[in-house]
Formats: sequence, C-alpha cells, structure tokens
Amino acid sequence: MFSQQYLQMLQKKDVIFEIFGYASKRRREIGEENVFDFSLGNPSVPAPEAVREALTGIPEQTDPLTLHSYSPAGGIPQVREAIAQDLNARYGASYTAGNIFMTCGAAAALAHAIRAVASPGETVLTFAPCFSEYEAYVAGCGCLLEVVPADTETFEINFPMLEEMLSPGVAAVLFNSPNNPSGVVCSTRTIRALADLLKKKSALFGHPIWLISDEPYRDIVFEGTDSPYIANEYENTITCYSFSKSLSLPGERIGYAAVNPKADQAGLVMELFTQISRTTGHNGAPALLQRVAAKTCSLTADLSVYETNCRLLCSALSSFGYEFVRPGGTFYMFPKSPLPDAKAFCRLAMEHDLMLVPGDGFGVPGHFRIAYCVPTEKVERALPVFERLIRT
Ligand SMILES: Cc1ncc(COP(=O)(O)O)c(C=O)c1O
Repeated sequence: MFSQQYLQMLQKKDVIFEIFGYASKRRREIGEENVFDFSLGNPSVPAPEAVREALTGIPEQTDPLTLHSYSPAGGIPQVREAIAQDLNARYGASYTAGNIFMTCGAAAALAHAIRAVASPGETVLTFAPCFSEYEAYVAGCGCLLEVVPADTETFEINFPMLEEMLSPGVAAVLFNSPNNPSGVVCSTRTIRALADLLKKKSALFGHPIWLISDEPYRDIVFEGTDSPYIANEYENTITCYSFSKSLSLPGERIGYAAVNPKADQAGLVMELFTQISRTTGHNGAPALLQRVAAKTCSLTADLSVYETNCRLLCSALSSFGYEFVRPGGTFYMFPKSPLPDAKAFCRLAMEHDLMLVPGDGFGVPGHFRIAYCVPTEKVERALPVFERLIRT
C-alpha cells in the first residue's frame, strides 16, 4: 500500500505554488509585463560573474575523473575548509573543516540538523510567522512542530509564550532570522535573551536544547540593521545556510550545516549527519557546486535591488494606509491585511493580477506576504494596484 504520511500530505495544497501557477497562466494570457507576481522567493538578480567563471573554469582545470567522482558524505575536505575559514574571517568563529557538512541547500541542512538532535515524537519549537515548509520538514523527521504565537507588534520573539511552551519534551528550537515572511532581523539583544532562556531551560531539564538557526537570508541585511551571528551567542547551535539567495543559485541546491565547535559533542553531531545522509539518500552535495561555493563563498550577487524595492514599498504602502513592521533584510514584507480575511484579500489582489500570499500558511492569519524579489520597475508599476486595493 502507499504511505499514509505522503497520502495525507497530498491533501494539503501548496498555496504559494498554486498562486504561482495562476500567475504563469495569466502571463500567457496577458503578457509578462502585466502580471505583478510577488508570490515566490526566487532571487531576481543574476549570480555574480565569479560564479559563472568558476562553473566553466573548474571543469577546464580539473581532471574529469576527480571532478565527477563521489564526494565524501560531508563534502570535499578543501571545500569544507574554505567555508570554515570564510565563517571565521567574517564572524570571529573557530570552525574547522570538521564542523562543516555540505548539503543540497538549506532544506537538506535542516533535514540533517533536525534528525541529529531530535528523536521521533520529540518537539521542535518554532516561531510565527515561519516558513510554510517547516511543518513538512519537521513532520518528515517524525517530530512534532509547535509554533510560538507571533508578537505582531514587532515580529521578534514572543518571550512570555516561548517560556511557557519550553517544556522538557522540546529537543530543539528552529529559528529563522532574517525572517521569511516578515523580513524582520532579530537584534543582538533579542538573540542574547533567547540564548539566556535556552541555557536556563537546558540546565533545568538536564539536557541541551539545540538551536537550529535557519539562515538562508543571512547576507541580505539592510543598512543600519543589527544582525548578529547567532552561533556566537549560543553554543549548542547548528547553523543551516544556503547559497540559494546570497549567490542567486536556488536551482543548484548548495548549502551547508555548520556545527558550532563549542557545542555539546559537536563531533558526534557530524558523525550522525553522515548516517542521516545514508538514510535520507542525500549522500553528498553536487561536487561541482561544492567547488564553486569554495571559490565564491565570500561573495554575494548584487543584492542592492532588494533594499531599493523595500524602501519604495515601505514608503508607498505606509502612505496608502497599510500597516507593517519595516523589514531589516530579506526580500519579503508581511503587512496586515486591509480585510480581516487575508485569503479574501489575496483573492481580490489576484483579480487585479497582483499575486500575494496569505499569512495563514506562515502561522499568522490576517497578514499577507509580499516577495519583492522582482525588478524595481515592476514594484513601481504595482504601487497603484496596492493603492486601489486598500481603497476598495
Ligand atoms: C526560511 C527558509 N528556510 C529554508 C529555505 C530552503 O532553502 P533552500 O532553497 O536553500 O533549500 C527557504 C527557501 O526559500 C526559506 O525561505
């Protein structure tokens, strides 16, 4: 018979891809230029030239047998070393190659991290608003996802609720800053308060509570925003990173999990990752992309368009009367819906060929997500539609 788990997942539709599918249909009907698609977090700027050079140069300079051979499960040693050195140079950390596990993007890094520190039946806590895929990621590990309700004033951490929900059954806290969908970047003060609470509860429960820090947007932070390196604040941290957004390579599936060298039994966590790779069929990230990442990990695409788009949207939307928390990074914002039902509002927007995603799937009904990873002229031409929608 078929798997009940996956049959049940089939019943739940992916709202974002449904909206994106509708947008594609409208593109064919009325032309690309007339569809304002703010539904998907697909980067809108090309990868840096250095990535293209590495993609062509590495095959030319490397013996083909070596180039295409199996990579060790955790990644090519020189690649892991390069990533460790880059993190140390940027954040004053002390990673070695032995703390870095190369993965197919952040999604695979999370799949390893959750499985390594949480057993089936244990709880993983996260915070609303959260990435809509977390439910699938955590359920896939046999764990239970519990979501700390949002502090809708700030979209930082709702500490009273977190304290209440941190029980001995919580194995890990899954945290995402800069945040999809709010764009909020938690400050050093907030992260230190989180670290203090996790330390206190770990001591009380007699086991470490792991912090799984999901950081695909770490490099998309706007001017003047305080953005700490989270693993520096809490030892039992596994950092899950991806080059999908920073280098605009989402289709190439390349990222890593970095285990803080100061974490409890950091070496064992890495050994567990290897076993997890075997059982999930991951078995190593693509070898060519690993080598590209080693050469380009200190770079980013030209991310400035996201800040430009953010400024434009913030200034226009607040003048129209929308309420929102100003993003500190990413390419998302998460305003309050002018209609109490954000799904109804997003349906109305669709009738104007403006594609937005209701907040229900991110754990905060009554809000909607704008993914402004689009050309700036698209944002400019969409503004009158946003204005019309709040006036109707
Ligand atoms: C918060 C968050 N985590 C994880 C992922 C998955 O990233 P990747 O495509 O690198 O697997 C995404 C992708 O959009 C994301 O927004």
